[in-house]
Amino acid sequence: MCGIMGYTGYRQALPLLLEGLKRLEYRGYDSAGVAVLESNGIFLKKKAGKLAVLESCLNGCQPAGVVGIGHTRWATHGVPCDRNAHPHLDCRGELAVVHNGIIENYISLRAELSGNGHRFLSETDTEVLPHLLEEIYQGDLLASLLALLPRLHGSYAMAVMSLREPGRLLVARRDSPLVLGLGKGENFLASDIPALLPYTRRILVMEDGEVAELWPDGVKIYDASGRQLTREAFPVEWDAAAAEKAPYPHFMLKEIHEQPRTLRDTLRGRMEGGRVLLPELDGAATYLRQCRRLFITACGTAFHAGLVGKYLIEKLVRLPVEVDIASEFRYRDLLLQPHDVVVVISQSGETADTLAALRLARNLGAKVLAITNVLGSSVAREADWVLYTWAGPEIAVASTKAYTAQVLLIALLSLHLAELRGTLSPSEVTGLAQEIDLLPERVAQVLRQEAEVASLAQRLKEHEHCFFIGRGMDWAVAAEGALKLKEISYIHAETYPAGELKHGTLALITEGVPVVALATQLSLLEKMLSNIKEVKARGAWVLAVTADGEEVAEEVDACLRLPPGDPLFLPVVAVVPLQLLAYHVAVARGCDVDQPRNLAKSVTVE
Ligand code: M6R
Repeated sequence: MCGIMGYTGYRQALPLLLEGLKRLEYRGYDSAGVAVLESNGIFLKKKAGKLAVLESCLNGCQPAGVVGIGHTRWATHGVPCDRNAHPHLDCRGELAVVHNGIIENYISLRAELSGNGHRFLSETDTEVLPHLLEEIYQGDLLASLLALLPRLHGSYAMAVMSLREPGRLLVARRDSPLVLGLGKGENFLASDIPALLPYTRRILVMEDGEVAELWPDGVKIYDASGRQLTREAFPVEWDAAAAEKAPYPHFMLKEIHEQPRTLRDTLRGRMEGGRVLLPELDGAATYLRQCRRLFITACGTAFHAGLVGKYLIEKLVRLPVEVDIASEFRYRDLLLQPHDVVVVISQSGETADTLAALRLARNLGAKVLAITNVLGSSVAREADWVLYTWAGPEIAVASTKAYTAQVLLIALLSLHLAELRGTLSPSEVTGLAQEIDLLPERVAQVLRQEAEVASLAQRLKEHEHCFFIGRGMDWAVAAEGALKLKEISYIHAETYPAGELKHGTLALITEGVPVVALATQLSLLEKMLSNIKEVKARGAWVLAVTADGEEVAEEVDACLRLPPGDPLFLPVVAVVPLQLLAYHVAVARGCDVDQPRNLAKSVTVE
């Protein structure tokens, strides 16, 4: 994820761009850059690191230009460094482009353009854009952009300016956010509304497939064929600070709702014709084929994703998997053998215990495969192989979209391993891959039940204790649901494999005690029903989360229904009502949802 900002008007562009980028830094902050149109050329400055680094480099530079574009980056293609930072220029230095998204066919475009003599200075997918425009350009930037877009696969919110057409900015959007801000004698563009609020509150939201041109005195929106559209601007009344997460009151809720899109991003380019493509693991094939067991290690939510991974891999790959909390893994007398593969999972890629576990595993001769969300993080740099989750920056301390992306990626890894090791036939892999492809839509369906979850939260909010139970993968999902509730609502929540309750914990189940029962695994449904009856018989108030369970619904006090699907992949869907439940309970209890007490987003101490 990246942030883009643009301005055309009568004021010096640079300070406005920097101010806007500051408000977009939550979208990515590994490098930043600006381009301003000057009468004698394009003023370009870009730097690795946060925006503050760019600002200090600019110290003293005051380009007078009144048209410009800027970018704050969360690297996807190419490490964070000066030359990979945006904006990118064409060969003549006359066109500048900033882009948020991924141009999936950039390799073939780049080869074609290089063959035509274009010179590339970065490793990014974005750089093909100014060069393609340079090829197409015949004096009209709008016509050139309309001709360029059909050649692109992937997602983009892009802004373009040309030395030959001063005053004019062009933008296009597909699957990446883009808004326009209307001023008097000046107009703006940005990835998100907060960047524009100091200057205007009249906002136009661009839709997928649209192109727009901005001049100081007006904005025009077009469809992909160049037909002009009419669109009313709407007034924004939020205050600028809260609006960064707008229209959501908290980042956590925003991130929960982003999941259908982030899951699609995780899948993007990784499935084709019913096959799973993980080219990042090409060099690992021999190890993955030969290893006799797998270790997974991680902390917190990432550990819970690993627990789901154990069930998936053992079932589909018939390979034994040990899952360890990283702070335990690093201090036990590990029996790692040559050919063992250790999978470390970390959203931030900087968690101290996970990093230490990774280093220990490598010191002991094992190979390490990292699953992480942050490009160039320590975990990513030090592992032998890396799979990125592409969930975008997660700001709320409570992890939500990173978890579902991790589980989804492990599901893909399971199919990849099953293919490599021949434990599933190609047609079985295809069938399961089709199921995986449906998960983003299923998550979207669950999100539509938010009002129902919010009213159940009212029932839970007065309690100080709560139990989460499940069997098999449901137990792993229950553990994640309980963690969410604990960390943001401060309700004590315990997770139990449902069959284990009667060995002690059942003593705590008394009249009215809330129990959240996960019952999504068809093969375990009857057993789970017995456990639900056990707690009901002791007076528990039971909320079930189930996909198929008519019988379950009849036994419990409240029931949340998931869209049916292969139970193997339901953890990605089943966790979503639990995230919403924790969120609404925390709000009802007046807790600081995004920054819960005693916690931090990235735990870089042991
Ligand atoms: O960045 P990591 O995935 O390594 O972080 C691990 C845990 O600290 C993290 O998942 C934590 O448990 C979350 N706050 C839970 O919501």
